[in-house]
Amino acid sequence: MDSFFNWIDSRFGIKEPHRRFLHRRLPERITYLYCLGGVAFTLFLCLLFTGMLLSLYYVPSEQEAFQSTLRLTKEVRLGWLIRSLHKWAAHLFIVFIILHALRVIVHRAYRPPRELNWITGTLTLVVAFASGFTGYLLPWDQRAYWATEVGTSMVATVPLIGNHLLYLIRGGPDVSGVTLVRFYSLHVLWLPLIMGFLLWAHFHMVKHQGISGGL
Ligand code: HEM
Repeated sequence: MDSFFNWIDSRFGIKEPHRRFLHRRLPERITYLYCLGGVAFTLFLCLLFTGMLLSLYYVPSEQEAFQSTLRLTKEVRLGWLIRSLHKWAAHLFIVFIILHALRVIVHRAYRPPRELNWITGTLTLVVAFASGFTGYLLPWDQRAYWATEVGTSMVATVPLIGNHLLYLIRGGPDVSGVTLVRFYSLHVLWLPLIMGFLLWAHFHMVKHQGISGGL
């Protein structure tokens, strides 16, 4: 195995960057509470993988979305399992982000120089909620439709620009096929990309500053 890795390394030069990535400064007394962020990240990877599989069958159009979701659950082999894994990973992702943030609060790890990491972390939570909200519409059934109708209508209460914002999010006055395409694009492209960038910044700062020593 060693000679295989040496062969790869002499061609790609991956050992050194790998070593630098894996070696990090850790506090003296480390507990399982420090794993909560890592669990959230593992769930994010699981969401990406199951989402990529779902996108092979899901059709984001007004006429096809509902039927394709049904087909995916009832006809595609293990489709029901991939759908359930995606859903449960999404719920647990939010739970673990919140638990991780609580760990950070209890250990008061938000204090300088980690305030920017706190901010990027909070933004990941916002993006995670937005991903959940946009994903909820995709099955395009009655529940999804009305939840989006009610959820988006709250935007209209924003002073001055509320109605413009509502029109922008829905792509028109009502929730329609345009909204579905808009939400699909946000769910599978824009939000995962933004999340990827935020996590890169988050991990870069953890690596640079080291993990705080707790209380
Ligand atoms: C997708 C969401 C997130 C992931 C995958 C993630 C991942 C991580 C990981 C792996 C660490 C290293 C240490 C640890 O796990 O405790 C960390 C540290 C940190 N995270 Fe997050 N995080 C996320 C969201 C958040 C949120 C919502 C906040 C706060 C609002 C936050 C604030 C911080 C801070 C301040 C640190 C440094 C902690 C220290 O040095 O002790 N993170 N994050």
